[in-house]
Amino acid sequence: MKRNLASAKITAFFANLQQMPSWLLRPVSAAFLLLSVPVSASAAEILNIYSHRQPFLVQPVLDAFTAQTGIETRMVYANEGLAERLEMEGPSSPADLILTVDIARLSVYADKGLLASVTSPVLEAAIPAHLRSPDNDWFGFSKRARVVAVSKDRVAEGAISRIEDLAKPEWQGRICTRKGSHVYNRALLASIVAAQGEAAALQWARALVRNLARKPQGNDRAQAKAIWQGECDVAIMNHYYYGVMLRSEEAEQRQWAAAVRLVFPNQADRGHHVNISGGGIAKYSRNKAAAQKLLEFLVSEEAQMLYAKLNYEYPANPSVSLPAELAQWGQTKEDQLPIARIAELSPVAQRIINQTGW
Ligand SMILES: [Fe+2]
Repeated sequence: MKRNLASAKITAFFANLQQMPSWLLRPVSAAFLLLSVPVSASAAEILNIYSHRQPFLVQPVLDAFTAQTGIETRMVYANEGLAERLEMEGPSSPADLILTVDIARLSVYADKGLLASVTSPVLEAAIPAHLRSPDNDWFGFSKRARVVAVSKDRVAEGAISRIEDLAKPEWQGRICTRKGSHVYNRALLASIVAAQGEAAALQWARALVRNLARKPQGNDRAQAKAIWQGECDVAIMNHYYYGVMLRSEEAEQRQWAAAVRLVFPNQADRGHHVNISGGGIAKYSRNKAAAQKLLEFLVSEEAQMLYAKLNYEYPANPSVSLPAELAQWGQTKEDQLPIARIAELSPVAQRIINQTGW
């Protein structure tokens, strides 16, 4: 009955529209369009995603999710400030999911209480416990190895096999890195604190800084460039940059990659340090079921393969076999330290970075 009344009103509305002068019609139809947005939005399921990951890395995965489920996605991308935005928006936030890289960034959301706890047997089965939050509010979807890049010409095979080797006096004036306080290096240092204790980690960082060829600067790729230019012989880098440089459209970047060899350190002991890309569901999401479907899609074979194809990242799901893009490095041994522990030790690592001026 009510519906009939409503449709009669709509018919009358359109009949009246036809009698209106066109100058009046334009704002009226614009207002009608605005009114109609929420109606169509609730008809199709739409997930709003706040992403610190660049759209070209995330969009293909989201498109595959939409193709499989019919659930649409909208992404807000920003390098910084999304946690603050989410916090300010509070319960009225439109965000359903947060996608980001690095445990340091994930833990900002977790520490501010911006993430919902998720109970999902699918996520628990697919993601090893050390790559997800003990509170089930963030999950790692891909792994990123922090490795050593060495000059192919000037560093002998086997000269470096452990991250601890970078403290040896033979590397004096030969190492390049980005700043110690960057999340990638802080996490690496936190992993050394976990393995060796704070005093040994401090000693290591002191020796590393003594061995630097230049003031810490630039991003990870800039370190490979410095090796290519002959400024240094050894650098610390995330592994995927090597793959990205190798297939770069810029000829010079391909040369940077060609100048280096990757060493996955600590293969004979604890394994190399890994960080994650990951995400979680926004605490005030009104689409938690659909958001969980997306998280579960991200650990599926299809999505895990896409991570490798797009950015050479390792599958977090151990049942997914090594994608061809990553097979060139073989299966490496990874540090099994819980990623959450990296976040806990981050202030200790930062203290060491301040003390040593890395
Ligand atoms: Fe990166």
